[in-house]
Parts: sequence; C-alpha cells; structure tokens
Amino acid sequence: MIEFEVDDAEQTRAIGRALASHLRAGDLVMLHGELGAGKTTLAQGIGQGLHVRGRVSSPTFIVARVHPSLIGGPDLIHADAYRITDLDDLETLDLDSTLAGSVTLVEWGEGKTEALSDQRLEIDVDRPHGGEADHEDGVIDLEHMDDGHRVVVLHPFGTRWDGEFAHLGDEVVALTAEAATPTDE
Ligand SMILES: Nc1ncnc2c1ncn2[C@@H]1O[C@H](COP(=O)(O)OP(=O)(O)OP(=O)(O)O)[C@@H](O)[C@H]1O
Ligand SMILES: [Mg+2]
Repeated sequence: MIEFEVDDAEQTRAIGRALASHLRAGDLVMLHGELGAGKTTLAQGIGQGLHVRGRVSSPTFIVARVHPSLIGGPDLIHADAYRITDLDDLETLDLDSTLAGSVTLVEWGEGKTEALSDQRLEIDVDRPHGGEADHEDGVIDLEHMDDGHRVVVLHPFGTRWDGEFAHLGDEVVALTAEAATPTDE
C-alpha cells in the first residue's frame, strides 16, 4: 500500500504521470472513489504520462474510450463502469479482448472488473473532508466546498508490482515541480 496526500488537481495528475512510466500493456488499473473524488483527474495524468492521443475526460454516453499511443507504446482504454449493472453489459465492453495489448483504466469497476486480472492495481481516491459547504450567515458557500485535499492510496495485487513503486514518491515530487515550473514556450 502506498499513500499520497495532495492539495490540488495538478498534484493528482502528477501522481498519474509518475505512475504511467510503470505501466505496460496488460495492466489493469481500477480507480475507486466517490463522485467527484478525482478518478478521471488521475486518469488524465496517466494519459499524459503514457503520451496518448486525446484528453481523458468523463464519458457521458460512451462507457469506454480508446486513446491510441502517440509514441508506439500501449494504448489507453479508459472505461467508466458506473452504469454497468449486469454481466452482459460488462461483456459488451469487451475489456478482456483488449486487455493484453493496452493499459486498461476502469472507474467504478468495484465488484465488477476484478476478475479481469489478479495482477491489477487498485487505487482509492478519497476526499477526506467530504463536500461540506461553509455556512456563513445562512448562506451556503459552494465555491469553497472543495479544499482540493485528496488522499490517493495504491493497492497493488499480485507479484506484477513487486519493487515497481520503490521510487514513486520521488518521481511524483519531480513531476509536480516540473508542472509548476514556467517554461519559455
Ligand atoms: N486534489 C485533487 N485531485 C483531483 N481532483 C481535484 C483535486 N482538487 C480538486 N479537484 C477537482 O475535483 C474534481 C474531480 O473530478 P473528477 O471528474 O476527476 O472526479 P471523478 O472521481 O472522476 O468523478 P466521477 O465519479 O463523476 O467520475 C475536478 O473538478 C477537480 O478539478
Ligand atoms: Mg470520472
């Protein structure tokens, strides 16, 4: 188990970018966490790190989207199993046929996609302070509901990940600093 605490969305993306350099074809990553926790935000960082085409976004009608690699690496399959309620629907997604050749990321897959791989990486994105609104003189302050604080916890399953994340903390720090450094572009 590896735990990170972050203060904003860009830091969550930095975790995704750092993680991406450890991912290869055949890997299954399941993202858990409540609505708006930051699962897609983390997936965006993974997409950046893998150098795939298109910005990873929240699928509305499409449940799975393929982001082809731009660098000859594995494609990214980003799936949202939120609306998947039965096994038939899950089979329609056909994730098992693309698994071996891609990096597969699934949001809301809990209790649904574990069987795809016993070597999976499960990640919890937690919003410890919840979505409590500030109340001031009876006015609910929606703008300040989200303090940006998140706890991201990696749960590796299987021997696939042995030793893989030994330096992940340093890599995340390096990539966070990189994101914050202005460039001349
Ligand atoms: N530290 C943080 N990490 C990730 N997102 C953050 C953070 N702080 C604030 N946010 C904001 O919280 C929102 C997270 O939305 P996101 O779509 O990533 O959540 P999600 O878990 O995928 O939700 P859903 O269950 O609806 O798919 C974004 O608006 C993001 O900017
Ligand atoms: Mg999402």
